[in-house]
Amino acid sequence: MYLGLDLGTSSVKALVIDENQAIMASATADLDVSRSQAGWSEQDPAKWIEATQMAVGQLKANHPAALAATRAIGLSGHMHGATLLDASDNILRPCILWNDTRSYLEADALDHNPAFRQLSGNIVFPGFTAPKLKWVKNNEPDIFAKTAKVLLPKDYLRLWLTGEYVSEMSDASGTSWLDVGKRQWSPQLLGACDMDIAQMPALVEGSDASGNLRPELASQWGMGGPVVVAGGAGDNAATAVGMGTVNEGAAFVSLGTSGVIFAANNAYRPNPDSAVHTFCHALPDSWHQMGVILSATDTLNWFAGITGCSAAELTGELGQTLQKPGAIFLPYLSGERTPHNDASIRGAMTGISHTTDRKAVTASILQGVAFAFRDSIEALAAAGTRIDRLLSSGGGSRSDFWLRTIATTLNAPIDVSQAGDVGAAFGAARLGMLAHEGVDSLSHCTQPAIEQTIEPDNNLLASFDDAYQTYRRTYPAIRSISQ
Ligand code: XUL
Repeated sequence: MYLGLDLGTSSVKALVIDENQAIMASATADLDVSRSQAGWSEQDPAKWIEATQMAVGQLKANHPAALAATRAIGLSGHMHGATLLDASDNILRPCILWNDTRSYLEADALDHNPAFRQLSGNIVFPGFTAPKLKWVKNNEPDIFAKTAKVLLPKDYLRLWLTGEYVSEMSDASGTSWLDVGKRQWSPQLLGACDMDIAQMPALVEGSDASGNLRPELASQWGMGGPVVVAGGAGDNAATAVGMGTVNEGAAFVSLGTSGVIFAANNAYRPNPDSAVHTFCHALPDSWHQMGVILSATDTLNWFAGITGCSAAELTGELGQTLQKPGAIFLPYLSGERTPHNDASIRGAMTGISHTTDRKAVTASILQGVAFAFRDSIEALAAAGTRIDRLLSSGGGSRSDFWLRTIATTLNAPIDVSQAGDVGAAFGAARLGMLAHEGVDSLSHCTQPAIEQTIEPDNNLLASFDDAYQTYRRTYPAIRSISQ
Protein backbone atom coordinates (compact mmCIF):
# COMPACT_ATOMS: atom_id res chain seq x y z
CA MET A 1 0.00 0.00 0.00
CA TYR A 2 1.03 3.59 -0.62
CA LEU A 3 -0.18 6.66 1.25
CA GLY A 4 -0.64 10.04 -0.44
CA LEU A 5 -0.82 13.11 1.82
CA ASP A 6 -2.05 16.30 0.19
CA LEU A 7 -1.74 19.50 2.21
CA GLY A 8 -4.42 21.60 0.48
CA THR A 9 -5.37 25.18 1.34
CA SER A 10 -8.70 24.12 2.84
CA SER A 11 -7.94 20.57 4.03
CA VAL A 12 -5.40 17.79 4.41
CA LYS A 13 -6.35 14.70 2.41
CA ALA A 14 -4.91 11.26 3.09
CA LEU A 15 -5.47 8.49 0.55
CA VAL A 16 -4.23 4.89 0.37
CA ILE A 17 -3.75 2.98 -2.91
CA ASP A 18 -2.75 -0.64 -3.38
CA GLU A 19 -0.05 -1.96 -5.73
CA ASN A 20 -2.58 -1.92 -8.61
CA GLN A 21 -3.32 1.73 -7.84
CA ALA A 22 -6.86 1.01 -6.65
CA ILE A 23 -8.03 3.49 -4.00
CA MET A 24 -8.45 1.59 -0.71
CA ALA A 25 -9.24 4.38 1.77
CA SER A 26 -9.29 8.13 2.18
CA ALA A 27 -9.85 10.73 4.90
CA THR A 28 -9.90 14.51 5.17
CA ALA A 29 -9.32 17.07 7.93
CA ASP A 30 -10.21 20.73 7.40
CA LEU A 31 -7.90 23.75 7.61
CA ASP A 32 -8.62 27.49 7.86
CA VAL A 33 -6.92 30.46 6.26
CA SER A 34 -6.36 33.59 8.32
CA ARG A 35 -6.82 36.92 6.48
CA SER A 36 -5.95 39.50 9.11
CA GLN A 37 -5.33 42.32 6.61
CA ALA A 38 -6.42 42.99 3.02
CA GLY A 39 -4.27 40.94 0.66
CA TRP A 40 -2.86 38.76 3.48
CA SER A 41 -3.34 35.00 3.67
CA GLU A 42 -1.63 32.91 6.35
CA GLN A 43 -1.72 29.51 8.06
CA ASP A 44 -0.14 28.21 11.24
CA PRO A 45 2.14 25.28 10.22
CA ALA A 46 1.36 23.53 13.53
CA LYS A 47 -2.23 23.12 12.23
CA TRP A 48 -0.92 21.19 9.19
CA ILE A 49 0.55 18.61 11.55
CA GLU A 50 -2.64 18.46 13.63
CA ALA A 51 -4.76 18.01 10.49
CA THR A 52 -2.41 15.33 9.13
CA GLN A 53 -2.59 13.47 12.46
CA MET A 54 -6.37 13.75 12.33
CA ALA A 55 -6.67 12.48 8.72
CA VAL A 56 -4.22 9.59 9.26
CA GLY A 57 -5.91 8.90 12.62
CA GLN A 58 -9.23 8.43 10.75
CA LEU A 59 -7.52 5.99 8.37
CA LYS A 60 -6.11 4.10 11.33
CA ALA A 61 -9.53 3.91 12.97
CA ASN A 62 -11.42 2.85 9.84
CA HIS A 63 -8.83 1.02 7.70
CA PRO A 64 -6.08 -0.20 10.05
CA ALA A 65 -4.95 -3.04 7.74
CA ALA A 66 -4.45 -0.72 4.74
CA LEU A 67 -2.47 1.71 6.86
CA ALA A 68 -0.37 -1.05 8.44
CA ALA A 69 0.58 -2.33 4.97
CA THR A 70 1.85 1.11 3.82
CA ARG A 71 5.37 0.88 2.39
CA ALA A 72 5.80 4.43 1.08
CA ILE A 73 4.33 7.91 1.46
CA GLY A 74 4.13 10.65 -1.17
CA LEU A 75 3.54 14.31 -0.35
CA SER A 76 1.72 17.07 -2.17
CA GLY A 77 1.01 20.59 -1.00
CA HIS A 78 -0.10 24.10 -1.81
CA MET A 79 2.86 25.84 -3.37
CA HIS A 80 5.00 28.95 -2.76
CA GLY A 81 4.32 29.34 1.00
CA ALA A 82 7.20 30.58 3.16
CA THR A 83 7.63 28.50 6.33
CA LEU A 84 10.44 30.13 8.31
CA LEU A 85 12.36 28.12 10.91
CA ASP A 86 15.07 29.14 13.37
CA ALA A 87 18.21 27.08 13.99
CA SER A 88 16.24 24.77 16.34
CA ASP A 89 13.40 24.24 13.82
CA ASN A 90 10.99 26.51 15.73
CA ILE A 91 8.38 28.19 13.51
CA LEU A 92 9.20 31.92 13.43
CA ARG A 93 5.89 33.30 12.10
CA PRO A 94 2.70 32.05 10.38
CA CYS A 95 3.32 30.72 6.87
CA ILE A 96 2.62 33.36 4.20
CA LEU A 97 0.56 31.52 1.55
CA TRP A 98 0.49 31.38 -2.26
CA ASN A 99 -2.48 33.77 -2.51
CA ASP A 100 -1.01 36.42 -0.20
CA THR A 101 -0.14 39.49 -2.25
CA ARG A 102 1.42 41.78 0.40
CA SER A 103 4.87 41.52 -1.19
CA TYR A 104 3.88 43.01 -4.55
CA LEU A 105 6.41 45.86 -4.30
CA GLU A 106 9.23 43.45 -3.44
CA ALA A 107 8.12 41.13 -6.29
CA ASP A 108 8.18 44.00 -8.75
CA ALA A 109 11.66 45.05 -7.63
CA LEU A 110 13.03 41.50 -7.98
CA ASP A 111 11.29 41.09 -11.34
CA HIS A 112 13.21 44.13 -12.59
CA ASN A 113 16.46 42.22 -11.98
CA PRO A 114 16.78 40.37 -15.34
CA ALA A 115 18.52 37.39 -13.69
CA PHE A 116 15.19 36.26 -12.18
CA ARG A 117 13.29 35.76 -15.44
CA GLN A 118 16.45 34.43 -17.12
CA LEU A 119 17.28 31.75 -14.53
CA SER A 120 13.91 30.96 -12.93
CA GLY A 121 12.05 31.16 -16.28
CA ASN A 122 9.13 32.99 -14.65
CA ILE A 123 7.86 36.40 -13.62
CA VAL A 124 8.55 36.97 -9.92
CA PHE A 125 4.89 36.95 -8.86
CA PRO A 126 3.96 38.42 -5.45
CA GLY A 127 2.70 34.98 -4.36
CA PHE A 128 6.09 33.34 -4.97
CA THR A 129 8.45 32.68 -2.08
CA ALA A 130 11.40 35.03 -2.79
CA PRO A 131 9.46 38.33 -2.53
CA LYS A 132 7.93 37.10 0.74
CA LEU A 133 11.40 36.80 2.23
CA LYS A 134 12.22 40.30 0.99
CA TRP A 135 9.03 41.54 2.69
CA VAL A 136 10.03 39.82 5.93
CA LYS A 137 13.49 41.38 5.69
CA ASN A 138 11.95 44.85 5.18
CA ASN A 139 9.15 44.55 7.75
CA GLU A 140 10.23 41.95 10.32
CA PRO A 141 14.04 42.22 10.28
CA ASP A 142 14.44 40.29 13.57
CA ILE A 143 12.62 37.31 12.10
CA PHE A 144 14.65 37.52 8.89
CA ALA A 145 17.86 37.52 10.94
CA LYS A 146 16.78 34.39 12.82
CA THR A 147 15.69 32.46 9.69
CA ALA A 148 17.90 29.38 9.42
CA LYS A 149 15.71 27.43 6.96
CA VAL A 150 12.95 28.29 4.50
CA LEU A 151 10.65 25.38 3.72
CA LEU A 152 7.68 25.04 1.38
CA PRO A 153 4.51 23.87 3.17
CA LYS A 154 4.63 20.15 2.31
CA ASP A 155 8.40 20.16 2.99
CA TYR A 156 7.68 21.31 6.54
CA LEU A 157 5.38 18.28 6.86
CA ARG A 158 8.25 16.16 5.54
CA LEU A 159 10.57 17.55 8.23
CA TRP A 160 8.06 16.38 10.83
CA LEU A 161 7.60 13.01 9.07
CA THR A 162 11.28 12.21 8.42
CA GLY A 163 13.50 14.72 10.22
CA GLU A 164 15.02 15.67 6.80
CA TYR A 165 15.25 19.07 5.09
CA VAL A 166 14.35 18.14 1.52
CA SER A 167 12.34 19.68 -1.31
CA GLU A 168 11.78 18.55 -4.89
CA MET A 169 11.90 20.23 -8.28
CA SER A 170 8.24 21.02 -8.99
CA ASP A 171 7.56 22.93 -5.75
CA ALA A 172 11.05 24.47 -5.69
CA SER A 173 10.26 25.96 -9.15
CA GLY A 174 7.74 28.29 -7.50
CA THR A 175 10.23 29.94 -5.16
CA SER A 176 12.00 32.17 -7.78
CA TRP A 177 15.27 30.74 -6.43
CA LEU A 178 15.49 27.63 -8.65
CA ASP A 179 17.36 27.54 -11.95
CA VAL A 180 14.39 25.75 -13.53
CA GLY A 181 16.28 24.67 -16.68
CA LYS A 182 19.15 23.14 -14.68
CA ARG A 183 17.01 21.85 -11.79
CA GLN A 184 19.23 23.29 -9.05
CA TRP A 185 19.14 26.18 -6.55
CA SER A 186 20.61 29.37 -7.97
CA PRO A 187 23.12 30.95 -5.54
CA GLN A 188 22.81 34.14 -7.63
CA LEU A 189 19.04 34.43 -7.14
CA LEU A 190 19.30 33.55 -3.44
CA GLY A 191 22.09 36.12 -3.09
CA ALA A 192 19.84 38.78 -4.65
CA CYS A 193 17.54 38.22 -1.63
CA ASP A 194 20.42 38.31 0.89
CA MET A 195 20.03 34.59 1.34
CA ASP A 196 22.26 31.62 1.19
CA ILE A 197 22.02 28.05 -0.11
CA ALA A 198 22.51 26.79 3.48
CA GLN A 199 19.01 28.14 4.24
CA MET A 200 17.49 25.89 1.57
CA PRO A 201 16.61 22.19 1.76
CA ALA A 202 18.36 19.56 -0.39
CA LEU A 203 16.63 18.78 -3.72
CA VAL A 204 15.44 15.44 -5.12
CA GLU A 205 13.14 14.50 -8.01
CA GLY A 206 9.51 13.94 -7.00
CA SER A 207 9.67 10.21 -7.73
CA ASP A 208 12.87 9.71 -5.69
CA ALA A 209 13.13 8.87 -2.00
CA SER A 210 13.70 11.82 0.36
CA GLY A 211 13.99 9.90 3.64
CA ASN A 212 12.19 7.38 5.86
CA LEU A 213 9.22 7.89 8.16
CA ARG A 214 10.40 8.45 11.77
CA PRO A 215 10.02 5.19 13.75
CA GLU A 216 7.82 6.92 16.40
CA LEU A 217 5.27 7.90 13.76
CA ALA A 218 5.49 4.53 12.01
CA SER A 219 4.65 2.74 15.26
CA GLN A 220 1.93 5.29 16.19
CA TRP A 221 0.25 4.62 12.82
CA GLY A 222 0.76 0.85 13.09
CA MET A 223 3.17 0.63 10.16
CA GLY A 224 5.93 -1.98 10.28
CA GLY A 225 9.27 -1.89 8.47
CA PRO A 226 10.90 1.12 6.86
CA VAL A 227 8.42 3.47 5.16
CA VAL A 228 9.97 5.55 2.37
CA VAL A 229 8.86 9.17 1.93
CA ALA A 230 9.07 10.25 -1.74
CA GLY A 231 10.00 13.74 -2.90
CA GLY A 232 6.37 14.28 -3.94
CA ALA A 233 5.27 17.44 -5.73
CA GLY A 234 3.58 20.81 -5.56
CA ASP A 235 -0.18 20.24 -5.68
CA ASN A 236 -0.54 20.97 -9.40
CA ALA A 237 2.28 18.67 -10.51
CA ALA A 238 0.98 16.02 -8.09
CA THR A 239 -2.49 16.29 -9.65
CA ALA A 240 -0.83 15.92 -13.07
CA VAL A 241 0.93 12.74 -11.95
CA GLY A 242 -2.41 11.43 -10.67
CA MET A 243 -4.23 12.30 -13.92
CA GLY A 244 -1.50 11.01 -16.23
CA THR A 245 -0.78 14.54 -17.46
CA VAL A 246 2.87 13.71 -17.99
CA ASN A 247 3.46 13.86 -21.76
CA GLU A 248 3.44 16.75 -24.23
CA GLY A 249 -0.12 17.42 -25.39
CA ALA A 250 -1.86 16.31 -22.17
CA ALA A 251 -3.63 19.02 -20.14
CA PHE A 252 -6.04 19.48 -17.26
CA VAL A 253 -8.17 22.20 -15.76
CA SER A 254 -8.24 22.36 -11.98
CA LEU A 255 -11.12 24.02 -10.15
CA GLY A 256 -9.72 24.25 -6.64
CA THR A 257 -9.37 27.27 -4.35
CA SER A 258 -7.12 28.51 -7.18
CA GLY A 259 -7.79 27.68 -10.82
CA VAL A 260 -5.15 26.15 -13.06
CA ILE A 261 -4.80 25.19 -16.70
CA PHE A 262 -1.88 22.76 -16.67
CA ALA A 263 -0.01 21.39 -19.73
CA ALA A 264 2.83 18.86 -19.61
CA ASN A 265 5.96 19.64 -21.65
CA ASN A 266 8.79 17.32 -22.69
CA ALA A 267 11.25 20.23 -22.78
CA TYR A 268 11.94 23.44 -20.86
CA ARG A 269 10.14 26.26 -22.73
CA PRO A 270 10.11 29.37 -20.56
CA ASN A 271 8.00 32.33 -21.69
CA PRO A 272 7.68 34.72 -18.75
CA ASP A 273 6.27 37.57 -20.86
CA SER A 274 3.02 35.63 -21.35
CA ALA A 275 2.59 35.39 -17.54
CA VAL A 276 2.33 31.60 -17.71
CA HIS A 277 4.29 29.59 -15.15
CA THR A 278 7.02 27.28 -16.48
CA PHE A 279 8.03 24.81 -13.77
CA CYS A 280 9.81 21.46 -13.46
CA HIS A 281 7.42 18.52 -13.51
CA ALA A 282 7.58 15.98 -10.67
CA LEU A 283 9.23 13.37 -12.92
CA PRO A 284 12.87 13.67 -14.05
CA ASP A 285 13.67 15.54 -17.26
CA SER A 286 10.19 16.95 -17.76
CA TRP A 287 8.62 20.36 -17.27
CA HIS A 288 5.17 21.91 -17.48
CA GLN A 289 3.46 25.19 -18.15
CA MET A 290 0.39 26.50 -16.40
CA GLY A 291 -1.86 29.50 -16.27
CA VAL A 292 -2.87 30.22 -12.67
CA ILE A 293 -5.88 32.22 -11.51
CA LEU A 294 -5.98 33.05 -7.83
CA SER A 295 -9.71 32.66 -7.10
CA ALA A 296 -11.68 29.76 -8.62
CA THR A 297 -13.94 27.95 -6.11
CA ASP A 298 -12.99 30.79 -3.76
CA THR A 299 -15.33 33.07 -5.78
CA LEU A 300 -18.32 30.77 -5.37
CA ASN A 301 -17.51 30.23 -1.68
CA TRP A 302 -17.40 34.00 -1.24
CA PHE A 303 -20.91 34.29 -2.75
CA ALA A 304 -22.10 31.31 -0.69
CA GLY A 305 -20.90 33.14 2.44
CA ILE A 306 -22.92 36.24 1.51
CA THR A 307 -26.11 34.43 0.54
CA GLY A 308 -26.06 31.85 3.31
CA CYS A 309 -26.48 29.07 0.72
CA SER A 310 -23.87 26.36 0.20
CA ALA A 311 -21.88 26.32 -3.05
CA ALA A 312 -23.69 23.07 -3.99
CA GLU A 313 -27.09 24.74 -3.42
CA LEU A 314 -26.07 27.70 -5.58
CA THR A 315 -24.89 25.55 -8.50
CA GLY A 316 -27.79 23.11 -7.94
CA GLU A 317 -30.43 25.79 -8.60
CA LEU A 318 -28.90 26.48 -12.04
CA GLY A 319 -30.11 23.14 -13.43
CA GLN A 320 -28.30 21.67 -16.43
CA THR A 321 -28.98 24.07 -19.30
CA LEU A 322 -26.66 27.00 -19.99
CA GLN A 323 -28.16 30.39 -20.78
CA LYS A 324 -26.67 33.27 -22.76
CA PRO A 325 -24.21 35.20 -20.55
CA GLY A 326 -25.63 38.23 -18.72
CA ALA A 327 -23.69 40.27 -16.16
CA ILE A 328 -19.89 40.12 -16.47
CA PHE A 329 -17.91 39.08 -13.40
CA LEU A 330 -14.18 39.64 -12.90
CA PRO A 331 -13.02 36.95 -10.42
CA TYR A 332 -10.07 38.92 -9.05
CA LEU A 333 -10.93 38.67 -5.34
CA SER A 334 -7.27 38.61 -4.37
CA GLY A 335 -5.64 40.05 -7.50
CA GLU A 336 -4.63 37.96 -10.49
CA ARG A 337 -1.56 36.16 -11.83
CA THR A 338 -2.15 34.93 -15.41
CA PRO A 339 -2.43 36.99 -17.57
CA HIS A 340 -2.33 40.30 -15.69
CA ASN A 341 0.23 39.89 -12.90
CA ASP A 342 -1.80 42.45 -10.96
CA ALA A 343 -1.84 42.12 -7.17
CA SER A 344 -4.02 45.14 -6.46
CA ILE A 345 -6.90 44.58 -8.89
CA ARG A 346 -10.11 43.38 -7.21
CA GLY A 347 -13.27 41.69 -8.42
CA ALA A 348 -16.14 43.47 -10.18
CA MET A 349 -19.54 42.76 -11.68
CA THR A 350 -20.94 44.88 -14.49
CA GLY A 351 -24.23 44.79 -16.39
CA ILE A 352 -26.51 44.12 -13.39
CA SER A 353 -30.24 44.69 -14.11
CA HIS A 354 -33.62 44.08 -12.40
CA THR A 355 -33.59 40.53 -13.76
CA THR A 356 -30.22 39.70 -12.21
CA ASP A 357 -31.33 37.38 -9.44
CA ARG A 358 -29.27 35.06 -7.28
CA LYS A 359 -29.17 32.38 -9.99
CA ALA A 360 -27.97 34.87 -12.57
CA VAL A 361 -25.21 36.10 -10.24
CA THR A 362 -24.07 32.50 -9.63
CA ALA A 363 -24.00 31.84 -13.39
CA SER A 364 -21.96 35.05 -13.95
CA ILE A 365 -19.47 34.00 -11.26
CA LEU A 366 -18.99 30.59 -12.90
CA GLN A 367 -18.62 32.29 -16.29
CA GLY A 368 -16.11 34.81 -14.93
CA VAL A 369 -13.89 31.94 -13.79
CA ALA A 370 -14.32 30.27 -17.21
CA PHE A 371 -13.33 33.53 -18.94
CA ALA A 372 -10.24 33.75 -16.74
CA PHE A 373 -9.38 30.19 -17.88
CA ARG A 374 -9.72 31.31 -21.50
CA ASP A 375 -7.21 34.09 -20.74
CA SER A 376 -4.85 31.35 -19.49
CA ILE A 377 -5.44 29.21 -22.60
CA GLU A 378 -4.53 32.21 -24.78
CA ALA A 379 -1.43 32.92 -22.66
CA LEU A 380 -0.36 29.28 -23.02
CA ALA A 381 -0.88 29.49 -26.79
CA ALA A 382 1.39 32.56 -26.84
CA ALA A 383 3.95 30.44 -24.96
CA GLY A 384 3.75 27.73 -27.64
CA THR A 385 1.32 25.29 -25.94
CA ARG A 386 -1.94 24.57 -27.75
CA ILE A 387 -4.70 22.82 -25.82
CA ASP A 388 -7.74 21.24 -27.51
CA ARG A 389 -9.04 18.93 -24.79
CA LEU A 390 -8.74 18.84 -20.99
CA LEU A 391 -9.32 16.53 -18.06
CA SER A 392 -11.11 18.09 -15.09
CA SER A 393 -10.02 18.06 -11.46
CA GLY A 394 -10.65 19.86 -8.18
CA GLY A 395 -13.74 20.25 -5.99
CA GLY A 396 -15.51 22.63 -8.42
CA SER A 397 -15.49 19.96 -11.13
CA ARG A 398 -18.34 18.23 -9.28
CA SER A 399 -20.59 20.79 -11.00
CA ASP A 400 -21.41 19.67 -14.56
CA PHE A 401 -22.88 23.13 -15.15
CA TRP A 402 -19.54 24.74 -14.35
CA LEU A 403 -17.66 22.28 -16.59
CA ARG A 404 -20.13 22.92 -19.44
CA THR A 405 -19.63 26.66 -18.96
CA ILE A 406 -15.85 26.16 -19.23
CA ALA A 407 -16.11 23.77 -22.23
CA THR A 408 -18.32 26.30 -24.06
CA THR A 409 -16.02 29.22 -23.21
CA LEU A 410 -12.90 27.33 -24.35
CA ASN A 411 -14.68 25.52 -27.23
CA ALA A 412 -12.95 22.33 -26.04
CA PRO A 413 -14.32 19.06 -24.62
CA ILE A 414 -13.64 18.29 -20.94
CA ASP A 415 -13.18 14.69 -19.80
CA VAL A 416 -14.39 13.75 -16.33
CA SER A 417 -12.66 10.81 -14.68
CA GLN A 418 -14.55 7.82 -13.27
CA ALA A 419 -12.70 7.99 -9.98
CA GLY A 420 -14.11 11.49 -9.39
CA ASP A 421 -11.89 14.12 -7.89
CA VAL A 422 -8.90 11.92 -6.97
CA GLY A 423 -6.58 14.86 -7.36
CA ALA A 424 -3.28 15.57 -5.80
CA ALA A 425 -3.43 12.96 -3.01
CA PHE A 426 -3.66 10.17 -5.60
CA GLY A 427 -0.68 11.64 -7.53
CA ALA A 428 1.25 11.87 -4.26
CA ALA A 429 0.50 8.20 -3.50
CA ARG A 430 1.70 7.32 -7.03
CA LEU A 431 4.96 9.17 -6.39
CA GLY A 432 5.34 7.16 -3.16
CA MET A 433 4.91 3.98 -5.21
CA LEU A 434 7.47 5.11 -7.80
CA ALA A 435 10.02 5.92 -5.09
CA HIS A 436 9.48 2.56 -3.39
CA GLU A 437 9.43 0.33 -6.46
CA GLY A 438 11.81 2.27 -8.70
CA VAL A 439 9.54 1.35 -11.62
CA ASP A 440 9.27 3.20 -14.95
CA SER A 441 7.39 6.38 -14.12
CA LEU A 442 5.63 7.01 -17.38
CA SER A 443 4.01 3.59 -17.76
CA HIS A 444 2.68 3.86 -14.17
CA CYS A 445 1.25 7.36 -14.63
CA THR A 446 -1.63 6.47 -16.95
CA GLN A 447 -4.75 8.60 -17.48
CA PRO A 448 -7.80 7.63 -15.42
CA ALA A 449 -10.81 5.92 -17.00
CA ILE A 450 -13.22 8.56 -18.35
CA GLU A 451 -16.79 8.54 -17.03
CA GLN A 452 -18.20 11.27 -19.27
CA THR A 453 -17.10 13.98 -21.66
CA ILE A 454 -18.63 17.41 -21.32
CA GLU A 455 -18.95 18.93 -24.79
CA PRO A 456 -19.25 22.65 -25.56
CA ASP A 457 -22.81 23.87 -26.20
CA ASN A 458 -22.51 24.70 -29.92
CA ASN A 459 -25.60 26.97 -29.89
CA LEU A 460 -23.97 29.24 -27.34
CA LEU A 461 -20.40 29.39 -28.69
CA ALA A 462 -20.92 32.77 -30.38
CA SER A 463 -22.64 34.45 -27.40
CA PHE A 464 -20.00 33.11 -24.99
CA ASP A 465 -17.28 34.41 -27.31
CA ASP A 466 -18.95 37.86 -27.42
CA ALA A 467 -19.22 37.91 -23.63
CA TYR A 468 -15.54 36.90 -23.36
CA GLN A 469 -14.58 39.86 -25.59
CA THR A 470 -16.56 42.15 -23.24
CA TYR A 471 -14.81 40.52 -20.27
CA ARG A 472 -11.43 41.27 -21.92
CA ARG A 473 -12.37 44.95 -22.23
CA THR A 474 -13.72 45.15 -18.68
CA TYR A 475 -10.37 44.53 -16.95
CA PRO A 476 -8.56 47.62 -18.36
CA ALA A 477 -11.67 49.73 -17.72
CA ILE A 478 -11.92 48.61 -14.07
CA ARG A 479 -8.15 48.89 -13.73
CA SER A 480 -8.33 52.53 -14.84
CA ILE A 481 -10.72 53.40 -11.99
CA SER A 482 -9.02 51.25 -9.32
CA GLN A 483 -6.56 52.59 -6.76
C1 XUL B 1 0.23 27.58 -8.24
C2 XUL B 1 -0.53 28.14 -7.10
C3 XUL B 1 -1.72 27.44 -6.61
C4 XUL B 1 -1.42 26.74 -5.33
C5 XUL B 1 -2.73 26.33 -4.69
O1 XUL B 1 1.22 28.40 -8.71
O2 XUL B 1 -0.19 29.14 -6.54
O3 XUL B 1 -2.28 26.58 -7.55
O4 XUL B 1 -0.52 25.70 -5.53
O5 XUL B 1 -2.82 25.18 -4.14
